[in-house]
Amino acid sequence: MKTPILETERLILRPLTAADAPAVFRCAGDERVTRYMSYKRHETTADTLKWLQSIDNDSDTSYDFGFIEKASGELIGVGGLYREAERQQWRLGYYLRYDRWHRGFTTEAAVKIVQFAKETLHETRIGSCHAVENPRSGQVIRNCGLVFTGYGAYENFDGSKRFRSKEYLWTKNGEELTRHKGTQTLHTERLVLRRFCKTDAADIFAWAGNPAVTRYVSYRTHRSVEDSEKILQYWLEGYKCEDNYNWAITLDGRKVIGQISVTEHDGLWDAGMGWQIDKPYWNRGYMTEAARAVFEYLFCEIGFHRIYSGHDTRNPASGKVMQKLGMTPEGIARQHYYKAGFGTGDAQKYAILKEEWLDQ
Ligand SMILES: CC(C)(COP(=O)(O)OP(=O)(O)OC[C@H]1O[C@@H](n2cnc3c(N)ncnc32)[C@H](O)[C@@H]1OP(=O)(O)O)[C@@H](O)C(=O)NCCC(=O)NCCS
Repeated sequence: MKTPILETERLILRPLTAADAPAVFRCAGDERVTRYMSYKRHETTADTLKWLQSIDNDSDTSYDFGFIEKASGELIGVGGLYREAERQQWRLGYYLRYDRWHRGFTTEAAVKIVQFAKETLHETRIGSCHAVENPRSGQVIRNCGLVFTGYGAYENFDGSKRFRSKEYLWTKNGEELTRHKGTQTLHTERLVLRRFCKTDAADIFAWAGNPAVTRYVSYRTHRSVEDSEKILQYWLEGYKCEDNYNWAITLDGRKVIGQISVTEHDGLWDAGMGWQIDKPYWNRGYMTEAARAVFEYLFCEIGFHRIYSGHDTRNPASGKVMQKLGMTPEGIARQHYYKAGFGTGDAQKYAILKEEWLDQ
């Protein structure tokens, strides 16, 4: 398809021509602009001309646009899409003339280009990345609706520079961002987190039947081991779903001393956590250790983007665990909890984003 002309509030995005060489060179020849680009800075307008002459405006595998500022009529940037056949997606790239930075032009152009990919090219996957040292570019990519998926690396074309990168992706249904694998056994320094099994009811009753442990959790204190057997049956059924995350916390794979689970999630994005541990094991760092392994698994193996939790403000130990995990307080939901016999309590909400987890 021919590269079309697109329009935004302040810009015209149009195919590039050889006549653009001097204006493009003002960007592609500027070291401040090209520092994190994968191509070599253009030394002269002849380099720029050569590149412009190599562009095929009728191509079905790349779309290059010049960003024309309506107010001045000048070309102030370049950007577009190129096809990554092996990943079956389009990749977004752009750069802007230095004196036009910090005015939202790149976002304005990039959002339009992404819209073109989605609506006209009917694309279902769009990727992009930026060098870790260049976080402003990440803001542009996120403004386009792409989400951070992990770290990578790229080299410039002659191999002389290598950058650690942050990778981003947009997919139409979002389904490829998260790959459920269910409750897999996780090992930490002192713990084994495994699935519950049929023989765990008595261990569960030891903590679920103790009001000191259940005071700030949503379920009623178990009155007998039969109550624990019932919930255990329900948890075992849950493992049939591949998006079920519910671990028994053990010291050696056998006796269960607690639980950590994803209590709710939207399938793709957001996971809400709950946890509890038997009283004799409190304040030894076990829950923090268990949650660290679970967060790592949920972010890096499964691909969740946000993990949240909350605690009754009368239960600060749980909040301490959230803080130690690097979660950010996100506000208080007043009188969120009610439990017969214990009255009502405010919920202090916490969350952490994948990006923040990986940056710790
Ligand atoms: C909340 C709970 C899971 C914490 O488990 P844990 O293994 O003791 O947690 P950790 O040892 O990793 O961390 C607990 C932290 O809270 C701190 N803490 C304990 N009591 C506290 C209190 N009253 N005020 C403030 N901090 C407190 C501990 O000192 C520790 O912090 P530190 O490592 O900086 O010393 C555990 O107490 C529990 O199961 N409680 C009952 C069930 C429950 O409340 N679940 C959470 C519902 S939101």
